[in-house]
Amino acid sequence: MQHGSTDRPWWERGVIYQIYPRSFQDSDGDGIGDLAGIEARLDHVATLGVDAIWLSPVFPSPMADFGYDVADYCGIDPMFGDLAAFDRLLAAVHARGLKLLLDFVPNHSSDRHPWFQQSRSSRDDPRRDWYIWRDPAPGGGPPNNWISDFGGPAWEHDAATGQYFLHTFLKEQPDLNWRDPDLRAAMMAAMRFWFDRGVDGFRIDVLWHIVKARGLPDNPVNPDWHPGLNARDQVIQTFSTDQPEAHAIAADMRALADSFGDRALVGEIFLPNDRHARWFGKPDRPEVHLPFNFQLIENAWDAAVLARVIGDYDASIPAHGWPNWVFGSHDAPRIAARIGEAQARLAAVLLLTLRGTPTLFQGDEIGIGEVAIPPDRVRDPQEIRQPGIGLGRDRSRTPMPWDASAHAGFSSAEPWLPLNADWSTRNVTAQEADAGSMLHLYRSLLALRRANATLSIGDFALVEADTGVLAYERRSGAERLLVALNLGGEPRPLRLPAGAVVAETLASTLPLRTIDGMLAPDEGLILRLTEAD
Ligand code: NOJ
Ligand code: MG
Repeated sequence: MQHGSTDRPWWERGVIYQIYPRSFQDSDGDGIGDLAGIEARLDHVATLGVDAIWLSPVFPSPMADFGYDVADYCGIDPMFGDLAAFDRLLAAVHARGLKLLLDFVPNHSSDRHPWFQQSRSSRDDPRRDWYIWRDPAPGGGPPNNWISDFGGPAWEHDAATGQYFLHTFLKEQPDLNWRDPDLRAAMMAAMRFWFDRGVDGFRIDVLWHIVKARGLPDNPVNPDWHPGLNARDQVIQTFSTDQPEAHAIAADMRALADSFGDRALVGEIFLPNDRHARWFGKPDRPEVHLPFNFQLIENAWDAAVLARVIGDYDASIPAHGWPNWVFGSHDAPRIAARIGEAQARLAAVLLLTLRGTPTLFQGDEIGIGEVAIPPDRVRDPQEIRQPGIGLGRDRSRTPMPWDASAHAGFSSAEPWLPLNADWSTRNVTAQEADAGSMLHLYRSLLALRRANATLSIGDFALVEADTGVLAYERRSGAERLLVALNLGGEPRPLRLPAGAVVAETLASTLPLRTIDGMLAPDEGLILRLTEAD
């Protein structure tokens, strides 16, 4: 993989591609994706033109939360393969010049993890304090008012020892106690295990959750909550998240990563900009390389809103930090479902031309849209616990459709989740044959970004955002690139910065045409500018 003539680290210039292992490719006919399947499909990833793969969890797990309930931090679930299959995959990834990030889940383990089995066995067990146990409240009931992110109290009573344990997610996902030095050492050893094996880094699950305020005070009640909203938001997570001690742990994780050289840590962190930026750490005590930025997902698809979001975020990044952008994940609704396919093409341009590291979610490169999940096929515990309020995540986790053969080439058996309804025409093979497809758009944008360092690391300057058009310049040295995106359904004037003329059209979301001073509806352009004579 050529990176042009910059000396920036790979995680600054590169693009990350998220693979949801259950749904990428099944190799053994159980209807569930696996490591050998991913290995067999690596050509797709390499041809797409990304730089790194992030794999959602593949560790042994009862799958109560589809792998985010880890029963052994140093193994591979038999459903996905084994350590030998993992080593083969890692070697194949590296042979293609790609990087591999695993998903580290430090906030909680599975309740089937031997550590929790020991911890719950008695109040005197040496591992009791590896989890967060408390007596009932004085009048009985849970120790405080904390709410699980999946709804209901964040505490489960354990009759055997008469105490409650904390679970920020399912009761099958008890929270680990990072204040315990032995637990801490065991978790750092698990990270080291994978670094020793050669992984290039981790995406770290709910990193801002991992330490709770001493004394576990009640969280403030959220006055704006009402039924129909996520039950989680009944309280504001003041005391259950973003504690100073968690930053110190992130810094230790970074020191460990840095001791292995060119590795990267991506932290899952949802916070306002000022607190979010603190997760870069200090220049002399850095924390994560990339605190995930979900603001493209969280905000309206509107030029003025996006301009403000981009500007505010960029302004919040410290000199030693580096921005990043995400449009989709296994947790969020599909971008094409949210804004439609025509505008999703503009979203691809935006994601791949902003200053900072993009993360692309599998399936978005072929524009998978809304997938209706029949009630009898719902698998997501979040949807099962709080049905009907739009929290379902299965719709983004459906299998990759590869071709028009049975089960879309994903598996020889019925897949664990349904395919997108249009899979017989919306699949990788069909889009390969169609020069105008979303897949070809992504490939050409990724190639352009690779060839033009200005697109990844050049300066950013907003040009306009007031009439439904979002336009900005990316510059480095004498190179000036204009990105102009018509987010509306009406033609709009193409406004160029004063004194500039178009030298060349580098990319378009519509079939290429002569630039005539207008942007068609749904048109997005990347133009090279020069000075007017
Ligand atoms: C964030 C993950 O992305 C999500 O899928 C999971 O349910 C929670 N963390 C709990 O691990
Ligand atoms: Mg399988």
